[in-house]
Amino acid sequence: MRVFSGIQPSGKIHIGNYLGSLMQWVSFQEKNECIFSVVDLHSLTVPYNPSLLEEKIFEKVIAYLAAGINPKKSIIFIQSQVKEHAELNWLLSVVTPVSELKRMTQYKEKAKKYPKNINAGLLNYPILMAADILLYDTDVVPVGEDQAQHLEMTRLIARNFNKRFGNVFKIPKAFIPKTGEKIMSLTEPTKKMSKSDKNPKSYITLFDSPEEIKKKIMSAQTDSGLKIEYNPKLKPGISNLLTIYSLFSETPINRLEKKFEGKNYKFFKENLADLLIEKLAIFREEKKKFKKDGGSLKRILDEGRKKAQVIAFKKMKKIKKSMGLTI
Ligand code: TYM
Repeated sequence: MRVFSGIQPSGKIHIGNYLGSLMQWVSFQEKNECIFSVVDLHSLTVPYNPSLLEEKIFEKVIAYLAAGINPKKSIIFIQSQVKEHAELNWLLSVVTPVSELKRMTQYKEKAKKYPKNINAGLLNYPILMAADILLYDTDVVPVGEDQAQHLEMTRLIARNFNKRFGNVFKIPKAFIPKTGEKIMSLTEPTKKMSKSDKNPKSYITLFDSPEEIKKKIMSAQTDSGLKIEYNPKLKPGISNLLTIYSLFSETPINRLEKKFEGKNYKFFKENLADLLIEKLAIFREEKKKFKKDGGSLKRILDEGRKKAQVIAFKKMKKIKKSMGLTI
């Protein structure tokens, strides 16, 4: 199977991105042909600082590598370096209903958040995402729950295109994990953990220092009551922390409930902080390593770009031909 996924370089990559998406990529990598992109063009749709963008892009690549994506097995590349993404975005726009774009939750949320910057890119965002996926004849797209609607949109765009121009695109499927599909904010556990949250205490980034991890976990909002139990409706705070603990320790939640029976929240949180400090050490180490050796990161991205370009170029020819364009 061909697998494609990506993460935007906006904001800092956090444990929600990891548990909902990146961690799944690593398991797909063993038996599938995988392509992972840093989707920088998408990140231009919200206010950002151009002088910091490259650093943010590289940080995402380091996160992919530290998580276990092997550039010898999988393609890692930067979206804007393969021009066919932007080109296909335009071609797909002619089969995309504007009414559907306006329905997208992410568009509505971002438009509300940035009322002074409701640009066309924000609305057209799902078309570019469809281009990313369809350009590579993707079978499966591992993402968190918040991207389910965009995946449906991708499928709609592909079907619309195929109906009009012939059977050009595969219809991809989303892979959304059963646990970790929506990690919640540490400060407001009824809200999704988000890169663009103004309060850095609401998320733990993959590169946070041990001190930051400890501080954030100890101040995470918990619920009334004393028991460490999983009940997302009544106890969203502790349930979110249990989910995080379970995924990082590969221990089922009911075993954790037993393990922490009779213990208080403070004890549980100290344990969780220690676990995260240990499990995220690899990200901090890899970042240090690549800081000294930026050249190897560039080489990996160069290789990835070349491989992605070969696939994209071939596919674009077929797409353009099906639309009657001169190739
Ligand atoms: P982005 O950059 O917002 O998020 C990257 C991935 O992390 C998942 N995610 C979460 N999972 C669990 N809990 C959370 N709190 C959480 N927050 C984010 C997201 O679902 C995503 O899988 N539109 C995409 C980027 C994109 C893309 C693509 C993805 C562009 N083109 C093609 C797949 C295929 C996005 O904004 O992800």
